[in-house]
Amino acid sequence: MAQIWPIGGGKGGSGKSFLASALGRVLASHGKKTLLIDLDLGAANLHTMIEVPYPEKGFSDFLRKKISSLQDAVVRTPMENLFLISGANDNLDVANLPYEQKLKTMRAISRLDYDCILIDLGAGTSFNTLDFFMISQNGIFVATPEPTSIENIYRLVRAIYFRRIRHYYNAAEFKNLEEQSLLAFGSGASSKPELLMQTVKKIHPQKGFDLERDLDSFKFNLVLNQVRKQDNAEIGRQICRVIERHLGFHILFAGNVSYDDHVHDAICQRVSFLDRYPYTRTANDLRELGKQMMYPAGEQLQILYS
Ligand SMILES: Nc1ncnc2c1ncn2[C@@H]1O[C@H](COP(=O)(O)OP(=O)(O)OP(=O)(O)O)[C@@H](O)[C@H]1O
Ligand SMILES: [Mg+2]
Repeated sequence: MAQIWPIGGGKGGSGKSFLASALGRVLASHGKKTLLIDLDLGAANLHTMIEVPYPEKGFSDFLRKKISSLQDAVVRTPMENLFLISGANDNLDVANLPYEQKLKTMRAISRLDYDCILIDLGAGTSFNTLDFFMISQNGIFVATPEPTSIENIYRLVRAIYFRRIRHYYNAAEFKNLEEQSLLAFGSGASSKPELLMQTVKKIHPQKGFDLERDLDSFKFNLVLNQVRKQDNAEIGRQICRVIERHLGFHILFAGNVSYDDHVHDAICQRVSFLDRYPYTRTANDLRELGKQMMYPAGEQLQILYS
């Protein structure tokens, strides 16, 4: 079964697509059959970063039932072992897919026959992003070491938390739950998923228990990108601690990726950054991250915290 890595982040431009393309290359270079899926629907541009000028087919063909199997939407890239499902050609009307279509897509993704699947997601907290981010327990958050980006990560984690609780209820039940939470905790409850969770535990103890186990099973990772020399190298760990303290959501700090002007040059020239600038610190960071991803979750914990 493929290891699936959704890549999301609260803020546009933090480097999700660049990291997806670069990490995909690292995994492919280690012989892993790797698939990149561009689900930044409405703003898909991953193909440009992996030298596929204009993909002749993609995800929209699957949605519009032009093809019956998601595998048929896959295109080759110039790199051996690296494949793409492009999100280009999609109209803005797919930017918020009906839940049934998302479920169908998620099932189709989990049946694809690859070693590693990386999913590039849109910025922000749209339902598409939240739902696809939870397709696997290994989601990667990408942020830059700036307060605005960090705030957005916090917001994204909080939205994921709310969305997960929402999955356990139908619309009427969830509305009732929110009302109970407001009664118990006042207006602040609407922005604090941990208070909603306390209400769940109080009025539906079994659901509360199941939800807690479910949330605990997620092993989300944080990558800080565009880190400059003068930035505090510890900030990633600090963010994870703050999120854990306030939301009770455990996030692993996976590492920093250094800022390098050559990233811009490589993207403009439509060449692989890793191939053109392999001896930079950024390339080294990316190779290290890719190596960590190849370890199963149990071992990964040890490596990440060593
Ligand atoms: N490590 C880095 N060093 C220097 N520049 C970088 C780095 N990573 C990304 N960038 C710059 O940031 C820009 C945005 O990156 P990218 O398109 O990957 O962001 P994104 O998070 O996918 O944005 P969006 O949310 O709009 O899809 C790139 O065009 C590149 O110029
Ligand atoms: Mg992007």
